Amino acid sequence: MQIDNNTQPIKYDASSERYKTMTYKRSGKSGVLLPAISLGLWHNFGHVDDIKNARDVLRCAFDLGITHFDLANNYGPPSGSAEENFGTILNSDFKSYRDELFIATKAGFDMWDGPYGNLGSRKYLISSLDQSLKRMNLDYVDVFYHHRPDPDTPLEETMGALADIVIQGKALYVGISNYQPEDTKKAAELLRELKTPFILHQARYSMFDRWVEDGLLDTLEQNGVGCITFSPLAQGMLTDKYLNGIPKNSRAGGDSVFLNTETVNNNIEKIQELAKIAERRGQKLSQMAIAWILRQPQVASVLIGASSTNQLKENVKALDNLEFTNDELKFIEKVIS
Ligand SMILES: NC(=O)c1ccc[n+]([C@@H]2O[C@H](COP(=O)([O-])OP(=O)(O)OC[C@H]3O[C@@H](n4cnc5c(N)ncnc54)[C@H](OP(=O)(O)O)[C@@H]3O)[C@@H](O)[C@H]2O)c1
Repeated sequence: MQIDNNTQPIKYDASSERYKTMTYKRSGKSGVLLPAISLGLWHNFGHVDDIKNARDVLRCAFDLGITHFDLANNYGPPSGSAEENFGTILNSDFKSYRDELFIATKAGFDMWDGPYGNLGSRKYLISSLDQSLKRMNLDYVDVFYHHRPDPDTPLEETMGALADIVIQGKALYVGISNYQPEDTKKAAELLRELKTPFILHQARYSMFDRWVEDGLLDTLEQNGVGCITFSPLAQGMLTDKYLNGIPKNSRAGGDSVFLNTETVNNNIEKIQELAKIAERRGQKLSQMAIAWILRQPQVASVLIGASSTNQLKENVKALDNLEFTNDELKFIEKVIS
């Protein structure tokens, strides 16, 4: 997809204020600092989406100090197209800022037909990253993840592939995603033996999904690995978006297989109660939902999605109030537990 340069200035100069307000947090015991809020390109960046809007959102993110962009081979739709669009925008806007960016991609879910296009084999991981680098027109990514555990491939093979990817210079660091605590511990042991810089575990975490509290955060702390949490807004449910019904131009109002009207309706009473607590804190619900995750010391960054620059600006303001009183935490607990 081409960017229509008639509708936007060709040259992008990043804001000189970009490092003034963002908070940067260390990922585990590594040398890497990540913005407390990072941007994911799972939705809104594919060939089906408006690339001008995608470009605006990326520019706005970087101007706000968001240096970390999260991709995966299958983001789109169609699969691969988020990486292609990101590559196009990197080339037009961010070429001179490459060393200020921390770019992630992943492999693990279905990507191409046949036995070598999914899960955790060495064959899949190495060839998928080669494809991702071509799509984004990059020499290397900053972090490469195994996207989901593979019960049938030996962990030694998958971690060995991650280690070799680093040795080949195609990724500076590695991560895993969606692994349970026990497999995370084993992965950390293997990667330590291989002297591979394992710095991040990417896991779903929000007020509506707290599985990481059941052992994963402790495991990560014990192994010096940072946690980057995804879907912090429960895909938009933990915002003001659905308080008064389901807008057509929303994830739940569209044809997403990941969020539907039934899920929103089942949660609407909790959403309304949480919005009242947020209001008493002088925050939007989205901002409270992000702040609530950042209270966990193991969390290096909260990975949000955004379909507009306004959403992004609203969400980043979460950093203005990260403190919770005991009473506020108790009220929240009462609503969500
Ligand atoms: N590792 C994994 O397996 C995995 C899985 C899922 C996601 N991820 C990563 O995590 C990233 C974030 O996931 P997510 O998109 O589910 O996160 P999310 O932040 O929970 O949801 C993002 C969506 O919420 C809505 N939204 C955001 N801010 C809003 C605001 N201020 N007001 C109203 N609505 C708002 C928008 O939906 P509308 O489009 O409806 O406007 C936006 O697209 C992904 O892009 C991806 O990089 C990783």
